[in-house]
Amino acid sequence: MAFLEFKTISKGYPGVQALSNISFGVEKGAVHGLMGENGAGKSTLIRVLSGDQSADEGSILIDGVEQKYSSVRDAFHAGVIVIHQELQLVPELTVAENLWLGRFPGRAGVINGKTLIETVRAKLDEIGIDVDPFAKVSSLPIGARQMVEIAKAVMLDARVIALDEPTSSLSSRESEILFSLIGKLKAKGTVIIYVSHRLDEIFRLCDSLTVLRDGKLAAHHPDIGKTTREQIIAEMVGREIANIWGWRERPLGDVRLEVKTLSGSKLRNPISFSVRKGEILGFFGLIGAGRSEMARLLYGADHRHQGNVAIDGVAVSPNNPKASINAGMVLCPEDRKFDGIIQGRSIEENIAISSRRHFSPFGVLNSKKEASIADQFIAKLRVRTPSRKQDIINLSGGNQQKVILGRWLSEQGVKVLVIDEPTRGIDVGAKSEIYEILYELAAGGMAIVVISSELPEVMGISDRIMVMCQGRVAADVERADFDERSILTAALPDKNVAGTI
Ligand SMILES: Nc1ncnc2c1ncn2[C@@H]1O[C@H](COP(=O)(O)OP(=O)(O)OP(=O)(O)O)[C@@H](O)[C@H]1O
Ligand SMILES: [Mg+2]
Repeated sequence: MAFLEFKTISKGYPGVQALSNISFGVEKGAVHGLMGENGAGKSTLIRVLSGDQSADEGSILIDGVEQKYSSVRDAFHAGVIVIHQELQLVPELTVAENLWLGRFPGRAGVINGKTLIETVRAKLDEIGIDVDPFAKVSSLPIGARQMVEIAKAVMLDARVIALDEPTSSLSSRESEILFSLIGKLKAKGTVIIYVSHRLDEIFRLCDSLTVLRDGKLAAHHPDIGKTTREQIIAEMVGREIANIWGWRERPLGDVRLEVKTLSGSKLRNPISFSVRKGEILGFFGLIGAGRSEMARLLYGADHRHQGNVAIDGVAVSPNNPKASINAGMVLCPEDRKFDGIIQGRSIEENIAISSRRHFSPFGVLNSKKEASIADQFIAKLRVRTPSRKQDIINLSGGNQQKVILGRWLSEQGVKVLVIDEPTRGIDVGAKSEIYEILYELAAGGMAIVVISSELPEVMGISDRIMVMCQGRVAADVERADFDERSILTAALPDKNVAGTI
């Protein structure tokens, strides 16, 4: 008998039936994957499981007992812990305080400093997570914050743990720690629900799998070994996608972006490269390799020590994002959730407020053209929403990402587009649409710099790849010479362990 059972769960929001009649069970000690396009209902199901949202209909059974909980606290006492897609840590508290809070949800009480720190340090060591318990959460990089969330779940003895896209901001090393933690939990008999858009992870970790589509159960696979990637993709998007990348040869023009000996405090070794009109240059490296730092220096968001950047032969003034924008360069940052979303505003407004208009906040919005651009992106990227007037905050995580991407991709007069982790959190169907847009923009003469930590993606869409490792360029590879193993080897700080990840 299934240890965890969802029975005929339905949940609606105004204008959206997020879940319709979902039933499936998960065995004790199993890792159960949950997949589906952005907006398919994965996080909603997890929220119902966590007591954060109540279902309109249906019930949840754990070990044969129907759960009546109506709050996160109830669910927590029933042994259910959820790590949400959006991090729940309190940024102003330290790591230790955050971990401690998890033990008493909803009660911040007085904390005995010494016991707390000792307990937390011992626990973090045991789990294998390397963060300072005294560090304020707000000072940690996203990956480290995510690890703290995970440590929090592991420290509490849960019967059911649900992880909603846990690896989207983890480095490969951190992901490995997470996977080994999942192995330990599984051995203890914990049920794990694992939400991810990454098929590799799903196949590696999961015993069984459920696919949701438009809030309905599209497929349930009690044994994941009996299915294939292609089948799952088809179940998710309702159509076959033969080639996600769709790369094709493009004519390249003159040099559009020229970067010479660029360096800064986080990128000490000067870096030089150029990108031609129509070219897509990929930057690959493991998290921490210096790619995002390079992008910020290039754009002028960080102070450069030296170097020159020119667009079409004209020098761009340094250290000034506004000058970069005026020269035709835009940067779509990695942390779009943090940098990009304007809460309380509609999808349409979130697309229309272009990165240029950030600098003239009184620009007039809502023209017909903007409405039509918004509708185009909603259709093209399959944003699941009742209308373009919907408040962006009501969209699923991946659909928010699509909207913010739409803002950068619809920008007019751009010559150089720098885009960091373009498809993080985005489902496989919309990914291929985003690549298609990038190809179209390139074909129109744009020079595109794509930064990604997903090797198949960089290899799939780039014309050329610069591999970064520990703040310097470790390799510069033409498409004809793309080779997974040599690119990975170049990206690894310890060159002896190639092939182990
Ligand atoms: N508070 C809300 N108000 C209105 N609609 C909502 C609300 N929360 C979620 N929805 C809608 O419910 C649907 C399911 O969203 P959910 O977050 O469960 O998707 P998901 O499968 O987790 O997607 P993603 O892969 O993007 O994270 C979406 O269409 C979303 O817009
Ligand atoms: Mg989600």
